[in-house]
Amino acid sequence: MYSVVKYKDIIDLQDEDTIKRYRLIEQLSKGFTVAHKIAQEMDHLLTEQLELTAGKPHNDDETDDEDTGDDHMPVPPVTSRKPQSRTAISTELETAFRDLFAALKDQKPQIIRYELPQVTTPEMEKPEIDSFQQIVDDLVLGSNVFLVGGAGTGKTYLAEVLVAHKALGRQHITINCSQWTSPIEIIGGQSMDGYVEGKLIEAWQRGYVLVLDELPKIDPNTAGLFNDALAKSKTPNAIIFNARKESFTKHPDFACIATGNVYPNRDSMAYGANNKQDLSLLDRFSGSVYLIEKNPKIERRIIQNDMLWSVCDKLRSAVEELKYEAQLSLRFMQNARDAYLLEMQRHKSEGSDGVKANEGKTFRSAIDSYLSTFTDVQQQNLKQRINYPGLFSNYQYRALPTGKLI
Ligand SMILES: Nc1ncnc2c1ncn2[C@@H]1O[C@H](COP(=O)(O)OP(=O)(O)OP(=O)(O)O)[C@@H](O)[C@H]1O
Ligand SMILES: [Mg+2]
Repeated sequence: MYSVVKYKDIIDLQDEDTIKRYRLIEQLSKGFTVAHKIAQEMDHLLTEQLELTAGKPHNDDETDDEDTGDDHMPVPPVTSRKPQSRTAISTELETAFRDLFAALKDQKPQIIRYELPQVTTPEMEKPEIDSFQQIVDDLVLGSNVFLVGGAGTGKTYLAEVLVAHKALGRQHITINCSQWTSPIEIIGGQSMDGYVEGKLIEAWQRGYVLVLDELPKIDPNTAGLFNDALAKSKTPNAIIFNARKESFTKHPDFACIATGNVYPNRDSMAYGANNKQDLSLLDRFSGSVYLIEKNPKIERRIIQNDMLWSVCDKLRSAVEELKYEAQLSLRFMQNARDAYLLEMQRHKSEGSDGVKANEGKTFRSAIDSYLSTFTDVQQQNLKQRINYPGLFSNYQYRALPTGKLI
């Protein structure tokens, strides 16, 4: 690759001839990169000339990497010629310049264009998720995104609703990955009802966001079917093939988000059903992996009741501190909140038509049900931490103002 960057600060101080030569080279290299020996040789000669002018002896042993930044390839040593003076270099340059023109006359330079897509995010209130804009940017740029986080932290919702639908304004199509996910679901195949098209193919040709939910759970051999497509997410008009070997051209809106409880390159005690995946698959997401953690701000906004959130949060902290292998997710909080709303409705109309507040699902029964998955000793420890007796013995919490944190 030919670089002109290194002269730009000093070129205007040079004599007319040098400036002219430089401008020509600059023009020549505009819009394309020249991986050409003569151009590199000219580059080297010009450097020598400039250094001579500046009074700095040129050292042929110097590697070019030192002063040129990393935006071009190292220039190979100039052939056997080692001009010593400005005039000698000038003559060499003229010859090299003629050679370059002659050489380039019959050679089509490779034009490399980067057209960055427009980021047009529909008007939406940005959620309080740290990496939200980065995730959207990645997808707009055609990078595949991997969201990693504990159960119920909101990965699937983030992928399907917030990013695909709200931020990008695109439809999504989801593959719920497990060891039973079949190639038919991915690239199509024969079913009892005839040929069905794969979801990867559908998303690819229609420009949907492909959500690979719980990707680490998929069989690593099946996962290999994504490799070809996901390597080409950035390539305009890239082609992939379905199970019938029919070709499909990529729609510019195709994007891919994978989710998982663990990044699938290591074993996890808590998430045993995940498989280790090939590094080739993981490479498709490298640089675009985001950790999605519990987010109290979002939880509180969703639950809309600080008292309930606070009890759940205390319980979750206790589980974490005591290192019990369990999760308390936003999903549980939502269920507990729904139970509470129903319970309070009954509580208000208690007595009329024989309605009893304690009958049916209550906030307490939701917590009890959660606790029942622990051993007796663990339950006692957890109850102590959340002041269970005080809070639940007489359903004290019903008297608490809902907005008050306890
Ligand atoms: N920003 C949000 N606004 C509203 N609801 C949300 C938000 N984030 C998550 N939720 C809700 O929280 C619950 C858990 O979210 P979600 O299913 O996306 O979690 P997850 O991280 O994919 O969990 P898992 O690892 O178990 O699949 C869902 O009911 C979802 O609708
Ligand atoms: Mg999920």
